[in-house]
Amino acid sequence: MHRRDPSELTPAIDAATGGRRYRRLRQHDWSRRLIRETQIASSDLIWPVFVRDGDGGPEPVESMPGVFRYSVKGAVEAALRARDLEIPVIALFPFNDTACRDEDGSEALNPDNLVCRATRAIKAAVPEIGILCDVALDPYTSHGHDGLLRNGRVVNDATVEVLCQQALIQAQAGCDIIGPSDMMDGRIAMIRSALDEAHLGDTMIMSYAAKYASVFYATFRDAVGSSGVLKGDKRTYQMDYCNGAEALREAAQDIAEGADMIMVKPGLPYLDVLTRMVQEFNLPCFAYQTSGEYSMIMAAAERGWLDRDAAMLEVLTAYKRAGASGILSYFAPMVAERFSK
Ligand code: PBG
Repeated sequence: MHRRDPSELTPAIDAATGGRRYRRLRQHDWSRRLIRETQIASSDLIWPVFVRDGDGGPEPVESMPGVFRYSVKGAVEAALRARDLEIPVIALFPFNDTACRDEDGSEALNPDNLVCRATRAIKAAVPEIGILCDVALDPYTSHGHDGLLRNGRVVNDATVEVLCQQALIQAQAGCDIIGPSDMMDGRIAMIRSALDEAHLGDTMIMSYAAKYASVFYATFRDAVGSSGVLKGDKRTYQMDYCNGAEALREAAQDIAEGADMIMVKPGLPYLDVLTRMVQEFNLPCFAYQTSGEYSMIMAAAERGWLDRDAAMLEVLTAYKRAGASGILSYFAPMVAERFSK
């Protein structure tokens, strides 16, 4: 075949493109940096931290390389590290062994439970950092569900009452942001009014507005000791991943009920849902990069199949590009460390 000389082609390409050459701006590192639309920063991150009883050092979570369960003292050190890295919020999750769990998750209402103790200790030592606490019963129930089980069903309204109590004791311990992750109907309104009546009107609510029944929570359940525990699945309360419009209804409802911020979870497979929410609602929208998303990257990186830091930055930037105000991510300290160098 006759190969055309570039000098012949240039006028033809210029005619076809109208002279528009998109590669011009991509030539240099400085020009690429100059035109960047989105960037991820430490202030975009919420770091989920697992807390356990006892005094020992950090205990590795097997299925989440680089993630640990900390003692209360260790959690305070983690909070100090987060503060120094300019991570604005840490999210606390308790690891409870089976001895601590019962049918109704009563430990969730113990004002001296692990999460409340960790919250008080962190607030005393590191008052500059925000603390988010999950509201849901699954770390406390013997069946691993987020609510009360009656005749094999997770009952809604009786669960909401317990969740209000759980939110109250967490807020009283010093939690700044209540994160209802349970997906019961009506819980945002009830929690908001319970907080207000208890003169805790400053406590914020970040609702897990669209939380899908997902396989990507598997390694989290390992981290909090729920994996062997869960009976059945959570599909009667968490959303069906086939649905997008339903997420908008859930979010509109939570906003009407008083949520200050909303969240989509998991993150990466649901960026379409996140973007729709950002476009629809004028309120901060967050995404949760779940344990399974974290473990996938770490597992591939451990095998040398992809570069951990490159994958982490690309994925977290994608969340920002999709419109997230911030991201809950187990990578938070690793990313923030890169930025602080
Ligand atoms: C509890 C809760 C879960 C996660 C956060 N809060 C698990 C679940 O609903 O089973 C998952 C977090 C993650 O996978 O990183 N309701």
